[in-house]
Amino acid sequence: MNAVITAVAGYVPPKILSNKDLEKMVDTNDEWIKSRTGISERHLLEDGEGTSVMGIKVLEDLCEKRGISPKEIDLVICATVTPDYQFPSTANIIAAKAGATNAWSFDINAACSGFLYALTTGSQFIETGKYKKVAVIGADKMSSIIDYTDRTTCVLFGDGAGGVILEPTQEQVGVMDSILYTDGEGQKHLYQKAGGSVKPASIESVEAREHYVYQEGQPVFKAAVTGMADVSEEIMKKNNLSSEDVSYLVPHQANLRIIDATARRMGVSKDKVMINIDKFGNTTAGTIPLCLWEWEKKLKKGDNLILATFGGGFTWGAAWIKWGYDSQ
Ligand code: UT7
Repeated sequence: MNAVITAVAGYVPPKILSNKDLEKMVDTNDEWIKSRTGISERHLLEDGEGTSVMGIKVLEDLCEKRGISPKEIDLVICATVTPDYQFPSTANIIAAKAGATNAWSFDINAACSGFLYALTTGSQFIETGKYKKVAVIGADKMSSIIDYTDRTTCVLFGDGAGGVILEPTQEQVGVMDSILYTDGEGQKHLYQKAGGSVKPASIESVEAREHYVYQEGQPVFKAAVTGMADVSEEIMKKNNLSSEDVSYLVPHQANLRIIDATARRMGVSKDKVMINIDKFGNTTAGTIPLCLWEWEKKLKKGDNLILATFGGGFTWGAAWIKWGYDSQ
């Protein structure tokens, strides 16, 4: 039994923050941002709206596209590092508000690798035969943890969400394989210093701006280039896939230079790489499903997709998917 994607949906909020807008906020410029990252603009959720707002829209859309009632969903998994609250999980809120009242639900925290971790987890629940419809959502309101006075991070991130429905199939399509890694030693280069149990929120932690993303760009960049390219090559070799076999690389959108390095290592040409970092920036758990959503109409049954990611933790991985349907 395989788990196959039967619907895909995405959502970005309407408000846009452009490079020109950022030039007025910090000492940066459009040329630097574009040449170092590939980003032109990103979308931001309104103040007072939580990550679940985007996840609810995604789950509603998924059910509508699949032509099912939300009540038919068995399980909702939400990958996020910007949950609405510390608890309950954002997946609980999404399930309730989207009407998936027969589902159980939980969150996964694996930063930018969240969607791949969640997709792999969700597919196991299908492959056991126990569940028939699993919704896997990646959603992040990165603007809620970004310091808009720090030019080294505020230009990178945006808000967005995407997701898929997984269902069982006897055909040789679906989530064929995945390879996932974690290295906790990477934590020091990319994390949120306060707000967890080590350092709960206090006046001091807020004044020290420790509730925002802390990132040392260079070490993360080096680890990301190696990690994402290595694991993409590894999953291809393991499954005897040549670059000609690959229809699309679906990379996490953190930096265009990291994406290019991964594509080069795989021997995949630029026209086979899903790239939307220019419009959305890095939406953390949202990037990969947002790519699938944007490219859905071009995908054909049997297309081989390599999903690849690297993020905070460190966490990284790749998945091989055989697309399960022709889009109308
Ligand atoms: O998805 C989660 C995983 N995260 C990633 O994969 C991100 C990985 N890291 C990166 O993508 C890159 O390291 C960055 C885009 C964050 C930075 O690019 P970089 O080429 O590594 O730049 P850098 O940090 O080496 O900085 C080069 C220069 C510095 O100035 P000096 O010291 O050479 O004078 C920075 O202060 O660029 C300066 N700089 C900026 N200048 C204009 C840093 N940020 C900016 C900015 N605008 N926004």
